[in-house]
Amino acid sequence: MRIILIGYGVVGQSFTNMLLRRRHETVKDYGLNPKIVAIADRGGSAVNPKGLDLERMLALKKQKGTVAADREFGRADLSPLEAITSVEAEVVVEASSTNVKNGEPGLSHIKTAFKTGKHVVTTNKGPLALAFPALTELADYNKVYLRFSGTVGGGTPVLELAKKCLAGDKILAIRGILNGTTNYILTEMAEKHVTFQQALDSAQKLGYAETDPSMDVDGIDTACKVVIMGNWIMNKKLTLKDVDIEGIRGVTLEALEKAAKRGNTIKLLGSIDGKARVAPTEVSRHDPLCVSGVLNAVTFVSEFAGEETIIGRGAGGPETASAILRDLLDIRHNLADKMLT
Ligand SMILES: NC(=O)c1ccc[n+]([C@@H]2O[C@H](COP(=O)([O-])OP(=O)(O)OC[C@H]3O[C@@H](n4cnc5c(N)ncnc54)[C@H](OP(=O)(O)O)[C@@H]3O)[C@@H](O)[C@H]2O)c1
Repeated sequence: MRIILIGYGVVGQSFTNMLLRRRHETVKDYGLNPKIVAIADRGGSAVNPKGLDLERMLALKKQKGTVAADREFGRADLSPLEAITSVEAEVVVEASSTNVKNGEPGLSHIKTAFKTGKHVVTTNKGPLALAFPALTELADYNKVYLRFSGTVGGGTPVLELAKKCLAGDKILAIRGILNGTTNYILTEMAEKHVTFQQALDSAQKLGYAETDPSMDVDGIDTACKVVIMGNWIMNKKLTLKDVDIEGIRGVTLEALEKAAKRGNTIKLLGSIDGKARVAPTEVSRHDPLCVSGVLNAVTFVSEFAGEETIIGRGAGGPETASAILRDLLDIRHNLADKMLT
């Protein structure tokens, strides 16, 4: 399987690191032999149709800031879009930065991959949150697969639990803590009685929150995940504008104390039942959803199996890399099935 990797930050580098560590097993246990034929970042690309030396790519990125600096295979003039169009490969792994205003550059990367007959594995929520129905249609039209496990729950197989393990049942509702940063802030406020601002400062110091925390604290990241789950699991044709969104800036210590007196706490929940929404919500301390710190948790309510909750770390480079590999194996499995029929 020849792969073009777009975006070589935390997730992209973790993915190549994982391939270096797991390659022997992926071939032996799954018959998958992934070969990275191109990597692109903002500085340009590195291309080798025979497969790039991943140890060298990791070292180069650290030392020079871009893979395009490689003396033999570096191409500072080759943009990610040109790499997708001109390099022969089966799959594009898209791990560039999220943008929820217009989805770019990820949206163009994904569309171009489809138009050139390449499957896509993405960890980038932006294009999916803005254009999920259109992207799945375009993938079907071009007879290619689009996979995105890493966009919800990082390495925790949230989408797979609902889509595969609960296959056949009907998912009636989903509710979840889908953002580790806001969960850390609310946990700090509830347990240490610090203000929102003090908890946010602490999250930033620990590297859990960005300098501009609005994607997390204003509920947008959670809403993107609600859109992805609504489309993929419940077949709803949703985009970000269909979600009612309220973040956690208005959650006060008084409200948390009142909730505590009732045996509850306040969590930022993303939910889909009749409506898709994100809002701070009182949750019983005994609810399995009530996880603390940066953990994520999602409950699926299904017609026959009842309630199932999955809990996990939610994000992180190695965790998300594991979701990418899982998606590649799924694509390989589907392609093998197709050849048999
Ligand atoms: N980190 C996580 O735990 C996690 C978990 C789940 C999903 N995700 C998602 O996965 C994606 C990657 O995350 P990350 O943590 O790896 O981010 P990151 O460290 O900021 O890396 C982003 C990468 O995208 C590249 N990039 C940005 N704009 C680009 C453009 N216009 N053209 C080409 N490349 C461009 C950057 O290039 P340079 O290296 O040249 O700057 C960098 O290599 C994001 O969409 C993120 O939301 C991340």
